[in-house]
Amino acid sequence: GAPFDADQRGRRLRDLRISVTDRCNFRCVYCMPKEIFGRDYAFLERDELLSFEEITRIARAAARGGVQKIRLTGGEPLLRRGLENLVAMLAEIRTPEGAPLDIALTTNGSALAVKADALKAAGLDRVTVSIDSLDERTFQSMNDVKFPLARVLDGLEAAHTAGLGPIKVNMVVKKGLNDHDIVPMARYFKNTPYVLRFIEYMDVGSTNGWRLDDVVTADEIVSRISSEMPLESLDPTSPGETASRWRYSDGTNEIGVIASVTQAFCSTCTRARISTEGQLFTCLFADAGYDLRSLLRADCTDVELDGALRGIWARRTDNYSERRASLTPGSRRKIEMSYIGG
Ligand code: GTP
Ligand code: 5AD
Ligand code: SF4
Ligand code: SF4
Repeated sequence: GAPFDADQRGRRLRDLRISVTDRCNFRCVYCMPKEIFGRDYAFLERDELLSFEEITRIARAAARGGVQKIRLTGGEPLLRRGLENLVAMLAEIRTPEGAPLDIALTTNGSALAVKADALKAAGLDRVTVSIDSLDERTFQSMNDVKFPLARVLDGLEAAHTAGLGPIKVNMVVKKGLNDHDIVPMARYFKNTPYVLRFIEYMDVGSTNGWRLDDVVTADEIVSRISSEMPLESLDPTSPGETASRWRYSDGTNEIGVIASVTQAFCSTCTRARISTEGQLFTCLFADAGYDLRSLLRADCTDVELDGALRGIWARRTDNYSERRASLTPGSRRKIEMSYIGG
């Protein structure tokens, strides 16, 4: 079939982010706080998860509709058993023009040392590794399970050696927790092959107790780094990019800043998300999804599946981050809302 039409704001579907598990071996304070995600927390049961076949079927439909890039997320995606088998299935998909998809993975890096080679062999193109601090105490207090930094750094190196690049490193900055690590992180990654990206702490979900006060703005991040290691801004590589890019004036490396709170990028947002149990969300902050799993398990045809996706995308109006910014100009008010994150 023909690619899906643009949504209500003229945005095409280009990226599909697929969550393959709701579980994680970390309890990052900004994402899965221990008090909520404790021993009694009810994670999804196995039969509630989309199977690899179901995921691949959705990905194929999305590729027919215009998707060029797939990112596997979680939870921690490497906790999903046999993930390399899913990667191999996704790697066989072709766009209508005959091109393979760009297949990426966002991981906490804890299992990368073990899995990097198998993932590469299966056809994974690249990984993004989350590292919030290079200070062991801060790192462990953020993952909140005493996971040692060295094992994540080993994983990063294993991914690089396996050829899973270009590799990006994500650092979520939360004021008072790890903002003192902004410059040390920049300095460390400046002379590596890895592109460090700073992420403004976001109000995803309802459990992390987000406050605007906890956000260190992109402007502040850039100025703190630039005062020690001068930076110049770079043009975006692609229109829908989440990060604004900066390069060190001495030519060593670049960094990215993902400013979803202070500089919303909804106007070019080409992303759709599939949750672990097969709900399609057209925004990270959507309050409701579309149940694709029921459709698949009712033995829908490809024509029906494509039609459903096409219709959902055509009706899409999401621009949450733009509206949040206009609702709270310079305000220090506490924002509290429940969202389904992805
Ligand atoms: P590439 O551009 O393919 O390298 O990846 P990416 O930047 O889309 O993926 P990644 O998972 O590394 O995203 C980094 C972070 O940006 C995410 O963890 C989110 O915090 C944020 N982010 C990504 N997509 C969106 C989005 O659509 N909306 C908002 N508000 N934040 C997003
Ligand atoms: N704000 C910003 N980024 C977040 N991530 C998880 N929760 C939040 C949040 N509240 C990041 C992770 C990882 C990426 C997939 O999302 O650190 O890098
Ligand atoms: Fe796990 Fe990533 Fe969330 Fe941390 S941010 S708890 S590593 S899913
Ligand atoms: Fe896209 Fe929603 Fe994020 Fe805006 S807030 S960039 S519409 S996912």
